[in-house]
Amino acid sequence: MSKLQVRLNNIYQFATHDDVFSLKEKISSCQRQVEEKSGKGNDFLGWVALPAEVSDELLRNIEKVANELRAKSEFVVVVGIGGSYLGAKAVIEALGNSFGMFANGTKVLFAGNSICEDYHAELLKLLDNHTYSVVVISKSGTTTEPAIAFRLLKQHLEMKVGKTEAASRIVAITDQSKGALRKLADTEGYRTFVIPDDVGGRYSVLTPVGLLPIAIAGFDIRKLVEGARQAMNDTAASVPFEQNPACLYAAARNALYAKGKRVEIMVNYTPKLHYLTEWWKQLYGESEGKENKGIFPAGVDFTTDLHSMGQYIQEGERFIFETVLSVETPSQKLTIPNDPDNLDQLNFLTGKRLSEVNHMAELGTIVAHNDGGVPCIQLSVPELNSYWVGYLLYFFERACAISGYTIDVNPFDQPGVEAYKKNMFALLGKPGFEEEGKVLRKRLGI
Ligand code: PA5
Repeated sequence: MSKLQVRLNNIYQFATHDDVFSLKEKISSCQRQVEEKSGKGNDFLGWVALPAEVSDELLRNIEKVANELRAKSEFVVVVGIGGSYLGAKAVIEALGNSFGMFANGTKVLFAGNSICEDYHAELLKLLDNHTYSVVVISKSGTTTEPAIAFRLLKQHLEMKVGKTEAASRIVAITDQSKGALRKLADTEGYRTFVIPDDVGGRYSVLTPVGLLPIAIAGFDIRKLVEGARQAMNDTAASVPFEQNPACLYAAARNALYAKGKRVEIMVNYTPKLHYLTEWWKQLYGESEGKENKGIFPAGVDFTTDLHSMGQYIQEGERFIFETVLSVETPSQKLTIPNDPDNLDQLNFLTGKRLSEVNHMAELGTIVAHNDGGVPCIQLSVPELNSYWVGYLLYFFERACAISGYTIDVNPFDQPGVEAYKKNMFALLGKPGFEEEGKVLRKRLGI
């Protein structure tokens, strides 16, 4: 059936049907708060109607700029971190060829999502011998990691092609009027796209933040938005709890949380979903983890990680539950060949598709983990394409907002992220942080 399936039968040994459905009133009221913009952080709810509001003009403009950058670049380097990085990375990895080769020849690279010297030095060395453009993304315009990476790339590109040509190869995505990046873009004459005021970083994948890099990588952003629009309709407050996938998922995970299951592991059976899990981890971690509350979001890639984390999940501490995200039909076809020697004794699999073996591994693991005390929420989509990835993005955003309200936190702020920045600046001797720097040095013994 062509819809997102939410199956809960493998959690009912741990949180019963009644436990889940007793949350119906609470979840429905949180759902109304999202839609009526009446809950905490309600000035950051611009993402709720975004799939219906993305204009054709904006999409055309994004496609035009994407085509222009692709025409003149072997690589496009996307600079950003957190919500200004993970959405685009997740979609490009999910939809792309496993080895990162795209038919149109342009490859998207990422920078500024760490301060790793080796990574950035190696990137600049690679770019020495190739044509490239840069898309720099920062809502605040002041985030340290992308600002450092952009300094390096701006200088490198200007040296390589000259200041005027470099300016034509740089696109900035930032606030309409505030922040250092806006100022720089206006001064240098870069083309810009705006991140709406009422859309926070981790909810911004359906704005130019995600859409431009995804279009540059050659994927259909219109289908992505179409899928998100369908998810918006399917998860609206008017859809009854029992048929609303976002409500059911939010209720199930909160019912398990109430039973002491404090860690949710997102499980996939295709490496293409690795970064969708990373995006999901940021979305849920930053949205729910505050005031000493919130389910800890973790992720594994199966069957790969059955040979690393599988042991812990099967027999370790029993505070975890899994959410398995499956793709029903793979886009490629490969069968297992016969081997006359049969030394590995796998001839009973001859002629079977790898996807069938993978699916049986999935079902076998769910039962094994259930027997080992791990509840398992099951989500599945028919295919891994632009439409269904767009659907999943919106579905997870909607369920996350509902879930955050269910535990009574503001799912749209991230005050805790500031703590490391303050200390890092103090240790680096930023003017105005001298006293904190001394205290920290003493504490660290440096
Ligand atoms: O979700 C968020 O708001 C954060 O993860 C931000 O996206 C991240 O910190 C990057 O911020 P900015 O886009 O301002 O550079």
